[in-house]
Amino acid sequence: MKKLVLFSGAGISAESGLKTFRDSGGLWENYSIYEVATPEAFAKNPQLVLDFYNMRRTQLENAFPNEAHKMGVKLEEYYDVHIITQNVDDLHERAGSKKVLHLHGELRMVRSTKNPSIRKDIVYQSVSLGDTASDGAQWRPDIVWFGEAVPKMDEAIAIVRKADILVTVGTSLNVYPAAGLVDAANENCLKYIIDPNADEILSVSDMHIIKEKAGTGMSRLFNILSEHD
Ligand code: OAD
Repeated sequence: MKKLVLFSGAGISAESGLKTFRDSGGLWENYSIYEVATPEAFAKNPQLVLDFYNMRRTQLENAFPNEAHKMGVKLEEYYDVHIITQNVDDLHERAGSKKVLHLHGELRMVRSTKNPSIRKDIVYQSVSLGDTASDGAQWRPDIVWFGEAVPKMDEAIAIVRKADILVTVGTSLNVYPAAGLVDAANENCLKYIIDPNADEILSVSDMHIIKEKAGTGMSRLFNILSEHD
């Protein structure tokens, strides 16, 4: 079976009602990265940061996988599929995808502020100041904030290097190191990008562009791949 990597960003969950970050009306228009998505922000105003992720967890509880997530599952019938997502939602898993790697952490998970290996799945519950892990330290969202290392990057690069097909969906490729993944593919890898604004994204020169929203774009990709093989 050929290896297909689906590299997703916020745009794949847009049709599930979850906001992207950099589109007009996106999350970073209403919140400052520096107030809610850095370790310094958490040190300065932990309540505000916890509230931001509590709000996003509630939104996630009320969101459902869309056609694009479901197509990711359907591709498993024909390919060895690895999902590498920048998203912190659980919609790929809820759609039924088997192998999902979260580069930027997961909304459902919290971890001890003292010991990153103490983690817990709180599903869609809220975290309050004073909620502590077994080591007595405050829980924090298990999210990779700006300025923090991306622990799963090496694993993701190794997966992309082996890919026969790399499908990038719904990411502006603005945030590094994650965005650099598209350059890790080998020279024979077939590359596609699905995004309604694909022509505005840098570094897509060697990719086949499918300028569509994720749901329509994934169906079109499926048809293109079926004609190829
Ligand atoms: P962005 O908000 O930067 O980019 C979203 C992309 O999705 C854009 O290229 C849009 O054109 C596209 N898009 C919008 N609607 C779409 C739809 N219906 N179907 C397909 N594509 C659509 O989001 P990301 O690239 O995922 O990190 O952002 C990367 C990282 O920046 C996130 O993981 C997050 C953020 O800050 C952290 O919080 C650490």
